[in-house]
Amino acid sequence: MRTRIAGGTIVTASERFAADLYLDGPRILALGSGLDLGVDHEVDASGCYVLPGGVDPHVHLDFPTLTTVTADDSTSGTAAAALGGTTTIINFALQRRGEPLPAVLERSLALAAGQAVIDYGFHVVVTDLPESRLAELDEIVRAGATSVKMFMAYPGELMIDDGTLLTVMERIGALGGLPMVHAENGTAIDVLIRRALAAGRTSPQWHGKTRPTILEAEAVHRAIVLAELTGAPAYFVHISCDEAAREVADAKHRGLPVFAETCPHYLTLDSSVYRDDDFDVAKYVMTPPLREPRHQAALWGQIRQAGLDVISTDHCPFCLVGQKDAGIGDFSRIPNGVGGVQYRLPLLYDRGVRAGNITLERLVAITATNPAKLFGLYPAKGTLAVGSDADVVVLDPRATTTITAAASPSKVDYSIYEGWTCAGAVRDVYCRGTRVVADGQLRGSAGHGRFVERGPTTPV
Ligand code: URP
Ligand code: ZN
Ligand code: ZN
Ligand code: ZN
Repeated sequence: MRTRIAGGTIVTASERFAADLYLDGPRILALGSGLDLGVDHEVDASGCYVLPGGVDPHVHLDFPTLTTVTADDSTSGTAAAALGGTTTIINFALQRRGEPLPAVLERSLALAAGQAVIDYGFHVVVTDLPESRLAELDEIVRAGATSVKMFMAYPGELMIDDGTLLTVMERIGALGGLPMVHAENGTAIDVLIRRALAAGRTSPQWHGKTRPTILEAEAVHRAIVLAELTGAPAYFVHISCDEAAREVADAKHRGLPVFAETCPHYLTLDSSVYRDDDFDVAKYVMTPPLREPRHQAALWGQIRQAGLDVISTDHCPFCLVGQKDAGIGDFSRIPNGVGGVQYRLPLLYDRGVRAGNITLERLVAITATNPAKLFGLYPAKGTLAVGSDADVVVLDPRATTTITAAASPSKVDYSIYEGWTCAGAVRDVYCRGTRVVADGQLRGSAGHGRFVERGPTTPV
């Protein structure tokens, strides 16, 4: 089937222009004005922006913690993502201690098969990999999982030591893949948590107060040193503060292949939510925690100057009732994470583009093109070009988006953005040529989304 998306303004990471976009089955056929190509279906996009489908490289679905599993599975999470203009997510396949990495990937692929509305990949989370088993990385890279994630936080649960960080970075880098790092000094944070609990500081606000910015910046610095030693690239997830972002920017200035993301919550909310002993504050227990207001301007500055490359959502939702409430009386038992996969584009269009923090082209770069390049999906995904996948978003800047958890397919029982209204609304979304969202309503169903085998990382 051929579709013409007519009369809109096409936006890529580098330019915008008025043109019609032609889709032929799962691919983009042409872009241009006054072309004489037969079509079966025409969509009027006048007054709208036509963007590449979003790539969200940090989404936790069916993700287990020690005590529970994320509220969203592959179906509910990808349905929410589609409504927000995301056509590809990269989820996490978590290694159980001792488990061979190829088995980790297979287990996650089996769980997701037939469940997703949009396309998906996996990063394998390495929690345990002695040097004698490094060859397992070669196998997962061959299977299309070309990035691995490692945690410098959560000792006793997910944290690996610096030796494992170094050897895995070296091997995955040599394979053309990308090591991702959750950078916080987990051992030092653990001391602060134990001291707080011992002093009777057990309410959720203490989550925010026991993870200081310098322990994030220190871990970023340490991981950059290890990456430099090995020659591997490194990608830092969820950078939350000025100090950590400056470590990344300094490394880039030294010519190192170091990349980083931040998330919408660090740009739109701040640590003033951690102000009293109310358990409702558990809504804002994510890691790293929200920071003081001054960090927001610093992060926007780094996004403009390419110190930060990507904005992901770190969608990792847990219900307040039945999940987060496990931490009543002990904040360290609250599952960490918040939802947000549905709202990246409206939040960033409103607070980023409309507020004058970034251009529309930069919005496309940080939500689609850059993550596609870094995670081996480009140019099939992340841009609007002849031959690319027909992953397309029609964004109407005249409409508005009001955020409410009750109206979302996400199964989480609250939103940190509840009641917010953003300028701009995702009107239509195509994933490989199939209209998965029409007039803001979900049309796609579970099983349309496919596992995408990713290639080597390419720098941005
Ligand atoms: O709070 C968060 N970010 N939870 C998800 C796990 C992680 O650290 O990415
Ligand atoms: Zn993390
Ligand atoms: Zn430093
Ligand atoms: Zn995460």
